Amino acid sequence: MVLETISITKLTEKQRRSFSCGVVALDDYFKQFSKGNHVKNIGKTFVLLEDDHKTVIGYYTISMGSVDFLSLPPELRTRLPKYPIPIARIARLAVDIKSQGLGWGEFLLVDALQRIRQAVSLVAAFMVIVDAKDEKAKSFYTRFGFTPFADNELCLFLPIDSIPNF
Ligand SMILES: CC(C)(COP(=O)(O)OP(=O)(O)OC[C@H]1O[C@@H](n2cnc3c(N)ncnc32)[C@H](O)[C@@H]1OP(=O)(O)O)[C@@H](O)C(=O)NCCC(=O)NCCS
Repeated sequence: MVLETISITKLTEKQRRSFSCGVVALDDYFKQFSKGNHVKNIGKTFVLLEDDHKTVIGYYTISMGSVDFLSLPPELRTRLPKYPIPIARIARLAVDIKSQGLGWGEFLLVDALQRIRQAVSLVAAFMVIVDAKDEKAKSFYTRFGFTPFADNELCLFLPIDSIPNF
C-alpha cells in the first residue's frame, strides 16, 4: 500500500470538521482556514487520510518566507550573503488524537521535508523553519535534527542540505 498526502482542497467540510489533535489553534486552523489559505497561496495544506478515505489522520501546512541574516547562528552566517535569507516554513503539523503515537507525525514531517526539497529545486530556500507550539512539540522536532534559534527557542531550523535522504 502506498500512502500519499493529498491537497486539502480534496476534502469535504465534514472531513475537515472531524479533525481534533488536542491543540485548539491547530484544530481551528484546519477547520476554518486551511482550504481558503491553500487556494489563496497563503499556506499549502496536505492531508493524510485513513484507508477508508474518510478519516483524517493528520495534516501539515507549508509556505515560503525569509529571515533576517542577523538572526542566524554565526557559524551559518559565514557562508551567506548579508541580506534576508529565503526559507521554507512548516507552519503547522498535527496528528488526530486517535492516531497519535503511531508514527504518523514522523510520516508527515518526512513528507513535508520531501515536498520542500522538491520545491527548492525550483524556488530557492536555504533552510526549513518550524514553529513549535510548546516544549513538547519542540522536543518532537529536535529528534529529527532541527535546532532552536538562540533568540526564540520555539522556532527551529534545519538547513536544506542537512535534510536526510529518506
Ligand atoms: C507532535 C505530534 C505531531 C507528533 O505526532 P505523533 O504521530 O504522535 O508522533 P510519532 O508517533 O510519529 O512519533 C515520532 C517520534 O517522535 C516521538 N515523539 C512524538 N511526540 C513527541 C513529543 N511531543 N516530544 C518528543 N518526542 C515525541 C515519538 O516517541 C517517536 O519516536 P520513536 O520513533 O523513537 O518512538 C502530535 O502528537 C500532535 O499532533 N500533537 C498536537 C499538535 C502539535 O503539538 N503539533 C506540533 C507542531 S506545533
